Parts: sequence; structure tokens; C-alpha cells
Amino acid sequence: MNRIKLGRTGVEISAIGVGTWAHGGPKQVKGRQVGWAGQDDRLAREALVEAFESGIDHFDTADVYGDGRSERIIGSLWDRIPRDRLFLASKVGWDPGSHGHYYHPDLVSARLERSLELLGTDYLDLYYLHHCDFGPDDSRLPAVLEVLDRARQAGKFRFLGLSDWDSSKVLRIGPTVDPDVVQVYRNVIDDQYRTSGLAAWVGERNLGAVFFSALKHGVLLGKYEQPTTFEAGDMRNQIGEFQDPEALERFSACRRAVEERFAGHREPVLQALSGALLTGGGAAGQECVLVGLRNPKQARAAARLGAPLSSAEAEWVRAIYRGESAPDAGGAADTAAGSVDSAGSD
Ligand SMILES: NC(=O)c1ccc[n+]([C@@H]2O[C@H](COP(=O)([O-])OP(=O)(O)OC[C@H]3O[C@@H](n4cnc5c(N)ncnc54)[C@H](OP(=O)(O)O)[C@@H]3O)[C@@H](O)[C@H]2O)c1
Repeated sequence: MNRIKLGRTGVEISAIGVGTWAHGGPKQVKGRQVGWAGQDDRLAREALVEAFESGIDHFDTADVYGDGRSERIIGSLWDRIPRDRLFLASKVGWDPGSHGHYYHPDLVSARLERSLELLGTDYLDLYYLHHCDFGPDDSRLPAVLEVLDRARQAGKFRFLGLSDWDSSKVLRIGPTVDPDVVQVYRNVIDDQYRTSGLAAWVGERNLGAVFFSALKHGVLLGKYEQPTTFEAGDMRNQIGEFQDPEALERFSACRRAVEERFAGHREPVLQALSGALLTGGGAAGQECVLVGLRNPKQARAAARLGAPLSSAEAEWVRAIYRGESAPDAGGAADTAAGSVDSAGSD
């Protein structure tokens, strides 16, 4: 597993981190499906242990993933994973509680305490503001930053993170928040991280960057041959591509092409989708990719990733997934770092 330095934090972590949103299980909020069906806590625990033992030492969770279910799962593992060898991140900001706003300072303070309790730790390595909506004229932001500043000085977290699905929002509010790390949506079909200018800003400031939904919740893997509906409470029911036969056919064709081009890699599709994001988005070597892992098999697969593709490979992968060029095999696998599988077997 390749390692990166997470920008100015100076901390070295695995280039692939574990995403645990799905460990929260199915969930609905005001009619919106915001969780994941099919959660098995025992498999989730085994996935986390397998990932850690395979060299992935960055876990990402949030207070809202199953209202603490995901945090509780991680917190049950300290007899198997040494706390001080894990880079542990959580987030606050998506549950207004009884305060009427996500970023009420009392709520932020209480949520941080709850996260620490459920996670069974007295500090987080990284604590994110989960989104960039701080009310009209960002009026909620100063009080939140004050609360977080006090908590940080008290040793409750080491580094501050700022997250959003929309990179341009992170870019707008970033200079005020001055985060150490940003976490944004990024995959081979959506590179707003670069086009918005956020990548360049991250590079200039020597920040760390963490990308989420690199697999677009699994649909980019090309494993869905038919439109698929999930159980109630699964956010994937709201993602158009899971229902779109044309998109599913394209992703399946991409999978076949990638399997041919990167035939030398044990996990060609996962490697293409994650390795393309490690090829210098703007701050190469200080960017890492989260992969949502639900079971030990997926953890073993993720442990084989972490090498960047060459620039040419990354552009080819982007082009076929965006439908900009035909997903033919594109020639034999070349010898760039991303194509070589150095990992062991199952
Ligand atoms: N900051 C934010 O606002 C934000 C937003 C979204 C996500 N995140 C973070 O980023 C993480 C990852 O993003 P994501 O949850 O959208 O998921 P993702 O990484 O795009 O996709 C993960 C899903 O792909 C499938 N998968 C993974 N490995 C596989 C393998 N080897 N073979 C086949 N299927 C495989 C699994 O689902 P199935 O097995 O069910 O197919 C898995 O749950 C989250 O867990 C969370 O920690 C943060």
C-alpha cells in the first residue's frame, strides 16, 4: 500500500482510506434516503480489521452515519486495532438535532463529545465540518470556529477538515475556515475538484485532500447489468445511474475495457477508478482516496490499490467513462506504476 503525506498535517497515511458511511445502515430523513441497505455489523468489523492489517490506516466516519452506528463499530475494535496507529476522522454538520440548525455551537460541541464517546477514544485525528452551509452570509461560521478552536486546544482533535459534495463551496469558504484537509466528491466522471480551482488552492496551501465516492457508490464498477432498486433507506435509490440502462451498459463496457488494459493488476477496475485520482489532481502525493468497504473481501481488494496511474492512463480512463472515446481496450497494459500489481494473494 502506497503512502502519502497529508499536506501540512505532516502525517503519513495510506493512499487508500476506508469509508464507513454504509456501516450506518439504511436511514431516511424527511423522506430522503440517506443510508445504505444490507449492512452487516459483523462483516463491517471484519472489513475494518482486514483493511488495517493490510496496511490501510485511515478510517473515515461521521456522527450521522446511522446516528452513531458506524462510529460505534469502529469504537468496538480497539482490542484488535491499536488506536495510536490509526488515523481516525469523523464529521459534524448533517443533523440539526433540536437546535434548528446543523451548526449551532452547542450542538457541534455536544456532537464532538458524542463522537468521542461512541468511538471510544479521547481524540480524533481529523474533525470535519461536513458541509459548507453556514446560514445566511455564513453567519453561523464564527461561533462554530470558536467552539472548534477551544476543542482543538483541549486536545479533542488534531486537525481541522472541511468537506462538501460541491468543491466550489469548499473553495469559497476555505480561506475563512483555513482547514488542514479538505474532503470532496471526486471520481473519473466528475472532476469538479480540478475544474473549480480547488485542486490548485489545495496545492498552493499545502493542504491534504481526501476524495469520496470514487466508485460512485459502486455503480462505476460496472457490476450492475440491470437497473437496480435497493431496500428503503438506501441512498443509491436516488442515484440516477443505478436505474439508467444506458449508463449501466456504458459502465459494463468500461469494466471490460479496463480489465483488458490493466490485465496485469489483480483489481483492474478498482485500480483504474482510484489510481486515476491519485495522478496529481493538483497536489500529488498529498491526496488520498476513500473506498467504502463492507466486508473483508472488499478490504482485501482495496489493499491492492494505492498506486497512481500514469497521466496517459488516467486520461484514457476518464475519457471512456465519460463516453468521450470508445471503450476499446486501448492497447496492451503498459508498465506505469498503476499497472503493476505488487500485492500478495488472498
Ligand atoms: N464528506 C462527505 O460528505 C461524504 C459523502 C459521501 C461519502 N463520504 C465518505 O466516503 C466514503 C466512500 O464513498 P461512498 O460511500 O460514496 O462509496 P464508494 O467508495 O464510491 O463505493 C463504495 C461501495 O462500492 C462497493 N464496493 C467497494 N469495494 C468493492 C469491491 N471490491 N467489489 C465490489 N463492490 C465494491 C460497496 O458496495 P456494495 O458491496 O453494496 O456494492 C461499497 O459500499 C464513505 O463511506 C464516507 O466515509 C463522505
